[in-house]
Amino acid sequence: MEQAIERAARDLVGSEYAIALTGAGISTESGIPDFRGPSGVWTKDPDAEKRAYRSYEMFLADPKRWWEERLTGPSLLGDLEKAMPNSGHYALAELEKLGFLQCVITQNVDALHEKAGTKKLIEYHGSLLKFRCVSCSSRFTRDEFDLEELMRGNQLPPHCPKCGGVVKTDGVAFGEPIPSDVAHRSLEEAWKCDLMLICGTSAVVYPFAQLPRIARQRKTETGRETETGLSAVEKAAAVTIIELNAEPTPLTEERVSDYLIQGKTGELLPRIVQEAKRITK
Ligand code: APR
Ligand code: ZN
Repeated sequence: MEQAIERAARDLVGSEYAIALTGAGISTESGIPDFRGPSGVWTKDPDAEKRAYRSYEMFLADPKRWWEERLTGPSLLGDLEKAMPNSGHYALAELEKLGFLQCVITQNVDALHEKAGTKKLIEYHGSLLKFRCVSCSSRFTRDEFDLEELMRGNQLPPHCPKCGGVVKTDGVAFGEPIPSDVAHRSLEEAWKCDLMLICGTSAVVYPFAQLPRIARQRKTETGRETETGLSAVEKAAAVTIIELNAEPTPLTEERVSDYLIQGKTGELLPRIVQEAKRITK
């Protein structure tokens, strides 16, 4: 394990443009369940997963009822507003401050990377602490709408003050398109990076799980003189992909990642920060 931590720190320090991709696994040590881990929300309640697959359809069909159910029903992930970042989130924020990490792209809707101080953050599946207009994609904070008042006045769903469109939570539901600004910025980062640190995701949900594969396809070309004097072009992988996860994923099995460090992100990431600091001292 020590060697793997040292290798990851060396790769990180040696990279020019490293980014991190994160999933629900990085927030379990903050008390928020993941989805497909041994005690994941879907693992424990497959019916809840089936309902989640129908959520967006229901929103499109009847946004008023969708909001009423949302405001009166139980929250799947618990009280996200009270959740606090853990040492994994803080370690990524510190790597950004140290200049070793350029961006975090997260699938999590819990806003914990933002709370931990990460500046360059892409919330690929949105944030449950924000709202979004489904017509013009404008985002809003929760306090910009008094939902209880709207419900009492029978005026749900909330409407966009800019274009009049219907507003939903910013969290992207199954079957809902990824907002184009988010999809575009994430692709740019996957194209630019020379190192990808993938933390706490089962990497089975698309299109997010495509990002490492897009990066893996990239090659760098170097010219090389041959003994006959002719130059030859060599193509090499342009990106190093490291997984930090409690268990192997399809990225491990399909060798999309270069290596997996198996363990808890809240324990592994601070050790990588420490080692990166030690070798650059
Ligand atoms: N440290 C490292 N890995 C962990 C930890 C931890 N502390 N806790 C859990 N894991 C691992 C689990 O073993 C699992 O492999 O993290 C992974 C979490 O995978 P999922 O539960 O599938 O979560 P994620 O990949 O983020 O899901 C993607 O699916 O349900 C949708 O929209 C939801 O954004 C979510 C998307
Ligand atoms: Zn709008």
